[in-house]
Amino acid sequence: MTDVVILAAGKGTRMRSDLPKVLHKLAGKPFLQHVIDTVENLEEPKVTVVIGHGAAKVQAGVQGKSLSFVEQKEQLGTGHAVLQALPNINDDEAVLILYGDVPLIGIDTLVELKSKVSSQSMGLLTFNLEDPTGYGRIVRDDCARVVSIVEQKDANETEKQIREINSGVMAVLGKHLRKWLPNLNNDNSQDEYYLTDIIAMAVSDGLSVETVQPESELEITGVNNRLQQAELERAYQLISARALLTEGLHIIDPSRFDLRGHLSHGSDCAVDINCIFEGDCELGNNVTIGANCIIKDAKIGDNVEIKPNSIIEDSVIANSCVVGPYARLRPGTELAAKAKIGNFVETKKAAIGLGSKVNHLSYVGDAELGEGVNVGAGTITCNYDGVNKSKTTIKDGAFIGSNTALVAPVTVGKNATVAAGSTVTKDSEEDQLVLCRAKQRNLDGWQRPTKKTD
Ligand code: UD1
Ligand code: CA
Repeated sequence: MTDVVILAAGKGTRMRSDLPKVLHKLAGKPFLQHVIDTVENLEEPKVTVVIGHGAAKVQAGVQGKSLSFVEQKEQLGTGHAVLQALPNINDDEAVLILYGDVPLIGIDTLVELKSKVSSQSMGLLTFNLEDPTGYGRIVRDDCARVVSIVEQKDANETEKQIREINSGVMAVLGKHLRKWLPNLNNDNSQDEYYLTDIIAMAVSDGLSVETVQPESELEITGVNNRLQQAELERAYQLISARALLTEGLHIIDPSRFDLRGHLSHGSDCAVDINCIFEGDCELGNNVTIGANCIIKDAKIGDNVEIKPNSIIEDSVIANSCVVGPYARLRPGTELAAKAKIGNFVETKKAAIGLGSKVNHLSYVGDAELGEGVNVGAGTITCNYDGVNKSKTTIKDGAFIGSNTALVAPVTVGKNATVAAGSTVTKDSEEDQLVLCRAKQRNLDGWQRPTKKTD
């Protein structure tokens, strides 16, 4: 089992936001959720989140298998925060202490840190920074053994020169925390109960403090303001893009690519600039995504072309379809193979059959289209009577003339033809011509109005 304590009670004043800091997002997911998702990969994790500012919002804003929450009513310091979690902690287990605003901590680092814990030792995650300003500094003795941590605000000039910083992340036996934490004092420049003071206590109890350094600085990077949030986002996106490029996804420009979830792909797929993928997206083989597309929770088959500026959500697209430019596929859209959805077309809860085309300026909602249907420009399914939604069915081979309103519930028969400009309210049968528009009259000698003079 692994006890984990995540500190998430702080306000995050510098974010200038009503939202508690740990709920702000990186790659579409709250900072704290990143940490929770990572620790859930540890062996039998038991996670306690210390909440305070916006406690109810934080509790509602994250989820996990083995989560419990404790409230720190007043934010009296990191040591005081961990003290609140003690009732949830086992004496003989290693406890990992993490921060909710340091989202990219890695699982390998945590496993290594945990391995440093015994009755004689504890683990501390440190890093050497060119500019250590603001961080607690790791003080070592002549034999390079860690002896204490001194906070920036309490450090003397020599200590300020130290480049090895405290990431804040540590691992220690539960019973040690239970012994040391109640003995912390707030006798320092910030009048806070510092968690970092337990290092000196460990040393005076004869424990060795074993340091671990993560591979990348990003793992220990905390977010305090919008600038750091944006910088961490870009760094993270570049890592995602590079990983996908290495796996063979052709991303035209990795600096203009955003993944807010998971993307899988086959071979010969290409993604043009400024695309955003959210949730779970799956691309088959030979899929091209044009510039400026937003794709969320979509499954896209082989040989599909998504042209620029299209938005696709919660949809399934079979092989060899063409979508866009400027198409909007809303939830519940299912395109069978070789279907075509053209520019300024919106679909919702719509099944479009094999090889059917909706090429221009249409709305197709709550509809089922058979195979080989052609929907002319400006066709609207009138699916909503102001109270209820109703379905439109268009059978195989039907041809819907331009500017048709299909007033649901309604069915267009197989191979039927609907004349342009019709307002269709009645079902039709196979092979019928449906013609429901005012008859054209041509009047001779028509005089145009003339401009009035006063
Ligand atoms: C802390 C460390 C410092 C380290 C730095 C790394 C201490 C005393 N200092 O400093 O050595 O270099 O992190 O980023 O631990 N929190 C609570 N309750 C509180 C206070 C803080 O939950 O009463 C949470 C915050 O929400 C935050 C984390 O603990 O997630 C760190 O607190 P913060 O005030 O940012 O600590 P630093 O001053 O940055
Ligand atoms: Ca901080």
